Amino acid sequence: MYVQAVDAPQRKPVTVPGLRVMKARGEKIVALTCYDASFAAHLEAAGVDIALVGDSLGMVVQGRTSTLPVTLDEMVYHSALVARGLTATLLIADLPFMSYRDAGYALSSSARLMAEGNAAMVKLEGGADWVCEVIAALTARDVPVCAHLGLTPQSVHKLGGYRMQGKSQDAAAHLQAQARAVVEAGAELLVLESVPHALAAQMAREIAIPVIGIGAGAGCDGQVLVLYDMLGITPGRRPKFSRDFLQGRESIPAAIAAYAGDVRAGAFPASENILG
Ligand code: KIV
Repeated sequence: MYVQAVDAPQRKPVTVPGLRVMKARGEKIVALTCYDASFAAHLEAAGVDIALVGDSLGMVVQGRTSTLPVTLDEMVYHSALVARGLTATLLIADLPFMSYRDAGYALSSSARLMAEGNAAMVKLEGGADWVCEVIAALTARDVPVCAHLGLTPQSVHKLGGYRMQGKSQDAAAHLQAQARAVVEAGAELLVLESVPHALAAQMAREIAIPVIGIGAGAGCDGQVLVLYDMLGITPGRRPKFSRDFLQGRESIPAAIAAYAGDVRAGAFPASENILG
């Protein structure tokens, strides 16, 4: 039976402006993906700052080979489930593939994620001009936006697979230009996925908004992992940039608390989790 985490100590709600304050203070931001109310209650109890309802649910919950088939209805459904388990943790929900293909779609999709799914912020992928126009349209209407650059899974076919981005000098410069563009357009948070750690650290230093890394090294302002990866329950090989936090621990709450503690202490990611 699902029981709300009523015994969790009260803490101040994490807010969108509060994330910038955390960056300014050098406090690492702890994020995890989440797809249902029971896990959400455990994230809440462990003091995780951000619960990301990622479209990764298409792969780890639905068993698909990519995130592309995930629908807006499914994202709204899972976001609403997660919201029921949270009190202080900030809820971010992914805009799924093609649900933000122009400003009109992005506005109506975001309205659903926020009004029905209770998300405080929406995340979208890419830094092309048209994406920046969408970000500007959303932020002009007070929809907080998290951008996502580097390995953007919705572009898996264009990228030719799930592989590290920003490795050449040109690719790194392109990524840095995209980061500046999404910030200029109004994004308030940036997820950087699978990029060389030195580049990610430089980008986190150079841009004003917090940078949350996944497979991007320890120099980011915070970290995010796919929940099932860090519990070691995703079938197949665990990505090198992740760690099985359940190994050697007695419970899922203990694993989530260990992850939060290690991110805050700068102990995760460690050298063995660094890609390039
Ligand atoms: O969908 C997702 O879970 C994500 C994270 C991997 C950042 O976008």
